Amino acid sequence: MTRRGLSGEELSFLREIAGGAHVATAADDVAAYAKDWTRDLVHAPAAVVKPRTTKEVSRILAFCDAKRIPVTPQGGRTGMSGGALAVQGGIALSLERMNAIREIDAANFVAVAEAGVVTQALQEAVEGRGLFYPPDPSSRGSCLIGGNVAENAGGPHAAKYGVTGRWVLGLEAVFADGQVTATGGKTRKDVAGYDLTSLLVGSEGTLAVVTAAWLRLIAKPAAWATVLAPFPSLSAAAAAVGEVHRLGLVPSACEIVDRPSVEVSSRKKGVGVPFPEAEARILLDFDGGSDGEVERDVTRAGEILLDCGALDVALATDEAKRRLLWEVRRGIAEAIHDLGVSVELDLAVPRSELVSLVEGVRRISAAAGLHPFCYGHAADGNLHVRLLCEGGAATAAFDEAVRAIYAEAVRLGGTITGEHGVGVILRDLLPLRRDEAFLRAMRAIKSVLDPNGILNPGKLVP
Ligand code: MLT
Ligand code: ZN
Repeated sequence: MTRRGLSGEELSFLREIAGGAHVATAADDVAAYAKDWTRDLVHAPAAVVKPRTTKEVSRILAFCDAKRIPVTPQGGRTGMSGGALAVQGGIALSLERMNAIREIDAANFVAVAEAGVVTQALQEAVEGRGLFYPPDPSSRGSCLIGGNVAENAGGPHAAKYGVTGRWVLGLEAVFADGQVTATGGKTRKDVAGYDLTSLLVGSEGTLAVVTAAWLRLIAKPAAWATVLAPFPSLSAAAAAVGEVHRLGLVPSACEIVDRPSVEVSSRKKGVGVPFPEAEARILLDFDGGSDGEVERDVTRAGEILLDCGALDVALATDEAKRRLLWEVRRGIAEAIHDLGVSVELDLAVPRSELVSLVEGVRRISAAAGLHPFCYGHAADGNLHVRLLCEGGAATAAFDEAVRAIYAEAVRLGGTITGEHGVGVILRDLLPLRRDEAFLRAMRAIKSVLDPNGILNPGKLVP
């Protein structure tokens, strides 16, 4: 793959737009922008450019479009499909300096946040006003709103509240040629024209650069409680998730975690867990308007889980205890990352197929001599499967097993990525999930909105 460098003249022009201090080219300064959280992939851009305003973004894109310089938009670089990696060189366009919360409009339940706002910072700011922004990717302490929008990020709360796109009322975005548009605003309803908001959400920086978002808010729930239940098998835990929903409960989070994942995360954190021999655990959050309402739900959930074969049920209502129950779950990705190079599959199936998926993953992995870590967002049928590459690199047999697992998810009516995106790692596998007519439509849209192919080249569109 050819990598685009930058001439001295091109760099001077970019410095003139963003300011000299905000264009980095030295290897040490660029190193952090050459990686995200995807395996061990490293792709250094020729320069990192950090604009502060939408106008600067517009000028940068117009210039790069004219000069055919690849532009890779970057948020918090916590993505897991390589979407923020500058695989063709050119510039990494980091939105980190566009970090203003422009407005929290409590009357209309809308926040207007720039792309560089850290997700957790937005959540805390709105909670300070008695409001709530539910999307909570596990990396919420360092991921950015722009990245969440670009990837249509999920997270545990998607169980009740849905993924990021459900909360986006409109976007301020810059097209490849530098034109700026607003696709929506504070209105709840707006059918004036194509739904460009939905098109740009999840487009992984390939159609436009998102510079700000109008985000829908709700009132902050008054009460929360967490239930943790160990199970003798992963399949039994997955089946219990189905039962909880079948009986009418709607947990605000509903996570499943297998024993290997618990072991590695609790070891790293130095915390013990009850029932360490349990093959799987389910973690449920409930929220509601009052303590009584939430108490009713958790009591009922506890009964259902025990009926489904749970070895025990632990309950936490105060914040410190809840955090403790969640700590091991939140630490899994990082703990596995420390073990060495691994491939992560982000499978999603209809919830009723979760048990079959879990069994399929176990069967295919065992046949290939692999030991998967399985955890994820069970209510959404979204299972993360991590496979360690022994010796640091994938073998042909390893790749074959990975492909077989993807095929199994699709066979079950599911998909090859539920929330991490296609990026660079799944681009060539997209035809497993999408038919030719779908792919042709994607290519047609891409060629109209980015005719010179400068926006995040090498990603998403096969
Ligand atoms: C999570 O659910 O923890 C995140 O999606 C990251 C991961 O998949 O490990
Ligand atoms: Zn996840």
